[in-house]
Amino acid sequence: MSEPLLDVRVRAKRYDGRTVLADTRLTIHPGEIVSLLGPSGCGKSTLLRIVAGLDRDFDGEVALRGIRLDGPSPELGVIFQEPRLLPWLDVANNISFPQRARGEAARQAAALLDEVGLPGIKESLPKALSGGMAQRVAIARGLFSRPCMLLLDEPFSAVDAITRTRLQDLLLAVTRAHGMAALIVTHDIDEALLLSDRVLVMQAGEAGAGGGIVHELLVTTTRPRERHAAEDAPLRRVLLDRLAARSDRAATSAARTVPACPSC
Ligand SMILES: Nc1ncnc2c1ncn2[C@@H]1O[C@H](COP(=O)(O)OP(=O)(O)OP(=O)(O)O)[C@@H](O)[C@H]1O
Ligand SMILES: [Mg+2]
Repeated sequence: MSEPLLDVRVRAKRYDGRTVLADTRLTIHPGEIVSLLGPSGCGKSTLLRIVAGLDRDFDGEVALRGIRLDGPSPELGVIFQEPRLLPWLDVANNISFPQRARGEAARQAAALLDEVGLPGIKESLPKALSGGMAQRVAIARGLFSRPCMLLLDEPFSAVDAITRTRLQDLLLAVTRAHGMAALIVTHDIDEALLLSDRVLVMQAGEAGAGGGIVHELLVTTTRPRERHAAEDAPLRRVLLDRLAARSDRAATSAARTVPACPSC
């Protein structure tokens, strides 16, 4: 396989002296879509924030194409659960922020609005948008810096079921069109199986030890994928078992245990 695009090692991440992540390694290859799945509080958002360069208070490294990152990078587009649009800026200026939407930036914002299915709303203010529209604008904003990877933290959990399926389709379309990789935090097994090439299961640590990635599942179902496909049933079962097993580290036939980071 090619060299990883992203290589993350977290030896330890602590909050107030409490270890939340320990000995965790995450690699993502160009164009690969990877989901992080795990129970509430196990550290998914913490890991995503570390990858995004939004949290530098940890022991470890984040490298992109072999070069260490020491903060946010335009090569990594970040999309959160809520759109986080600035209410006083119109849609075009939200997409290009902190650049003003003028000249080439305005043209690029308009092209991205077309791409996310919202032509003609560049002068609208965020308050005039539905939740689904606002999240499309957030996706356009995530694409503005032409990143090589999108980082998404439960990006579709605040919208209704139909909007969610459309946004999932949009995410697959934009990652394919731009040849981008993606790291997606989700609680939804079916969403993970629909979107991902690989699903990483995280668990919280026990007895004060930090948690991290405990399982990796390859999803080789051919694309385009059907939602809730019967052929995914064995994978769904494996993921349910892994999520339910807090301390059982035994491998199952369809999933393999992720070894601890060798240099951690
Ligand atoms: N800023 C912070 N200060 C102190 N503790 C924090 C902070 N952020 C997160 N934590 C703690 O770190 C642990 C992991 O939190 P995190 O938000 O990463 O979990 P998560 O897996 O994303 O959960 P959820 O699925 O509910 O979003 C939790 O115990 C949480 O309480
Ligand atoms: Mg979270």
